[in-house]
Amino acid sequence: MHRAALGSLKDMRVAICGSSGLIGTALRNSLTADGHDVLRLVRRPAAGADELQWDPAVGDIDPGPLEGLDAVVNLSGAGVGDRRWTKRYKQELYTSRIRPTAILAKAIVGLDRPPRVFVSPTGISVYGVDRGAEVVDEDSSSGTDFLAELCLAWQAAAEPAKDAGVAVCHPRFGLVMDRSGGAFKQMLPMFRFAVGGSLAGGRQYWSHVSLPDTVRALRFLIEQPGCVGAYNITAPEPATNAEFTRVLAHMLHRPAVLPVPRFALRLVLGEFTDYIAGSLRVVPHRLTEAGFVFQHRTTREVVAAALHQ
Ligand SMILES: NC(=O)c1ccc[n+]([C@@H]2O[C@H](COP(=O)([O-])OP(=O)(O)OC[C@H]3O[C@@H](n4cnc5c(N)ncnc54)[C@H](OP(=O)(O)O)[C@@H]3O)[C@@H](O)[C@H]2O)c1
Repeated sequence: MHRAALGSLKDMRVAICGSSGLIGTALRNSLTADGHDVLRLVRRPAAGADELQWDPAVGDIDPGPLEGLDAVVNLSGAGVGDRRWTKRYKQELYTSRIRPTAILAKAIVGLDRPPRVFVSPTGISVYGVDRGAEVVDEDSSSGTDFLAELCLAWQAAAEPAKDAGVAVCHPRFGLVMDRSGGAFKQMLPMFRFAVGGSLAGGRQYWSHVSLPDTVRALRFLIEQPGCVGAYNITAPEPATNAEFTRVLAHMLHRPAVLPVPRFALRLVLGEFTDYIAGSLRVVPHRLTEAGFVFQHRTTREVVAAALHQ
């Protein structure tokens, strides 16, 4: 699949769903700052010409405004770490990703002028819960646990868009670190009050990435000719949770005194604990091979970017 050269991608029109979230907000700001048009797919009444109301829960979308776009970026999904995983919430985690993706793919297939690219992410959880110190890239096998199967179904739901000749890209996000949202924002107060510490032993690899690099990588997938398939979006030098903890405490000038054992995490987080305690040492092989250069490669650089230092 070959697309227009980078130089011709001026004044792009990009639709984003989940645009109020951590990644969606940053991507939207980056695109509009560079003069591109963003159409937000919103689940509330549209507040202007740059918004289109849709209801992914029932499959309601007007495909007309999607004609002739450069890209559609799908960043929807109920928060994985936001609530304890009851059976009901697991169902919501699943349907809030699969349904929007399937609806967008179906709408894209029906367009006269489909977008050049459909960016439909998953997460590095596709590789399973715990792979120890093994270096994992896009060719590694997938897991068989709940999140891995969700990621595989999420990816499959986007595939029909290929039938319309669209380049379908699957970014696999690592832990996106920024003080404005997600896991980092939740951890930060504990470290600021000097009650932060390593989690569940700390020997597990955490494959993190800065928010600016996440946005740059998404834009690379949209703008660079020939990108298609799965791409890990993780900093090139993953570190253990203990190393991450040490760096964060050091940069906040606080001690990291309180390691949290696995059983204590389980009391609070339930099943999600396995994913915090699991080790995934993921490298961004395909992005690097395609010529993408990370600004924040090491844990120190990722944490500094997350703190906006
Ligand atoms: N951040 C990470 O570290 C990370 C890692 C791996 C994978 N991911 C995945 O990447 C996507 C974007 O991540 P993010 O961190 O930006 O997520 P986020 O901050 O939680 O935002 C997700 C957005 O999805 C929409 N949403 C929320 N609940 C929904 C529901 N029940 N049904 C449909 N849409 C719903 C909301 O946007 P609207 O209200 O505007 O519709 C929300 O702002 C998510 O699917 C996430 O799981 C993120």
